[in-house]
Amino acid sequence: MIISFFLNGNPAEIDAMPHHRSVDLLRENFQIKSIHQSCSDALCGTCLILMDDRPVLSCLVPAFELKFKDIWTMEGLSSKKSYADIVGGYKSAHVQLCSSCAPARALATEALLRQTLRPNAEQVRETAESVSCGCCSTRRVMDAILRAAKLREKRIHES
Ligand code: FES
Ligand code: FES
Repeated sequence: MIISFFLNGNPAEIDAMPHHRSVDLLRENFQIKSIHQSCSDALCGTCLILMDDRPVLSCLVPAFELKFKDIWTMEGLSSKKSYADIVGGYKSAHVQLCSSCAPARALATEALLRQTLRPNAEQVRETAESVSCGCCSTRRVMDAILRAAKLREKRIHES
């Protein structure tokens, strides 16, 4: 079945089978290597992508569900000016991420900032915990997300 969707702002099309997962299709057919799959079991969060502005785990999403959706990955996000807000937030909070976690954390943060620029504590915690790793404290990641939100708000008001 031919699936049409948007990938990082561009039209995309693929012939997918019912058993195909989004994570495999995006990595193998579209060379989206920023998506990692450390567990394949909804535990790590490193396969997170944006689907119609919502963060979803691509290891759980059948390829068919991409149909007509607006998909964003780190490859697209990092080319946008607004990505600087996320980089700035994490940098000023002194949170350093490994290459497996960084794309998913950036996308999860972007999803939250698209939803609100004044997130409450529960929303920030949920975003921080959407990617699991043993080396970053949740409190510091939460701080980074709040700083990114402030930077985004400032940039929007100044533009
Ligand atoms: S690969 Fe770990 S949550 Fe999808
Ligand atoms: S930042 Fe990747 S394992 Fe902690």
